[in-house]
Amino acid sequence: MNGLTAEEKFGDGLAEHERFRGEYPIVVEGLVNRFGKQTVHENLSLKVKRGEILGVVGGSGTGKSVLMRSIIGLQRPSEGNIKVFGRSITDAEPDEDIGVRNRWGVLFQGGALFSTLTVGENVEVPLKQFYPELSANFRHEIARYKTILSGLPEDAVSKFPSELSGGMKKRAGLARALALDPELLFLDEPTAGLDPIGADKFDKLTKELQQTLGLTVFLITHDLDTLYAICDRVAVLADRQVIGVGTIPELLATDHPWIQEYFNGPRGRAAQSSQKRADKKTSGAMDKPTVTGA
Ligand SMILES: Nc1ncnc2c1ncn2[C@@H]1O[C@H](COP(=O)(O)OP(=O)(O)OP(=O)(O)O)[C@@H](O)[C@H]1O
Ligand SMILES: [Mg+2]
Repeated sequence: MNGLTAEEKFGDGLAEHERFRGEYPIVVEGLVNRFGKQTVHENLSLKVKRGEILGVVGGSGTGKSVLMRSIIGLQRPSEGNIKVFGRSITDAEPDEDIGVRNRWGVLFQGGALFSTLTVGENVEVPLKQFYPELSANFRHEIARYKTILSGLPEDAVSKFPSELSGGMKKRAGLARALALDPELLFLDEPTAGLDPIGADKFDKLTKELQQTLGLTVFLITHDLDTLYAICDRVAVLADRQVIGVGTIPELLATDHPWIQEYFNGPRGRAAQSSQKRADKKTSGAMDKPTVTGA
């Protein structure tokens, strides 16, 4: 690879630091994931639109986290094709640099902060990995900025994860996910375990980041309030596939029992009416983009 220009290296006319301009930064086709005798995904397909917050829902164990891990190349699928920014993750060798890993940020389920590093040092980990040539001062400065951008007070930079509340840990994880100015943000259950006010604040921050930084967000959640408040579309995992993708009204128009039970059950209805109240308070509800197939 050494000595090649970015264009030669990536072959699609995109310079190394140019942003993706296609319609779908993530395209999953015919994905199969098996663990021994258990088939988690069978012929699963999904397209994520550039600039959207896509909520990903499904019962526990339906394979939401495995899907995310497959997309970011941590879980080699049994079959299928996954493209991120138009480049095939599934065709790449495990250690091959296809120029995409520094263009996404990930907040793992549970946070996954390094407990022996401060918040600032955690945020610096991807900076060191991908931009080792940066000076230490510059790295500290970026880490400080990302920490504040994620809604933490400045003094959190020098704190260890054990000194933070659950909500602060999520924000620290978010700061690390934002370290490399990603175009794509993966959030696995970001509001799990937060109180409703903390969850609401985190949702607002996610929406703000999507809009100000032009992010595409792949957001796994069980939180119905999050789906109503900030997701442009929702993908539903069940029966080892994506059984529906669209706005919530579009999903409600289908008659799949899981979808009906999920959105029309007592919790779904409560989330819907609280969103209606919030919409009334703020003039001008969010525009929802139109749907295309999964
Ligand atoms: N590395 C692995 N080896 C074997 N089985 C696995 C592995 N990773 C996941 N699984 C299995 O795949 C299934 C899907 O797991 P996954 O973590 O994706 O579920 P999920 O939808 O994210 O659930 P939750 O909502 O509880 O987070 C589970 O049955 C899990 O036990
Ligand atoms: Mg999970």
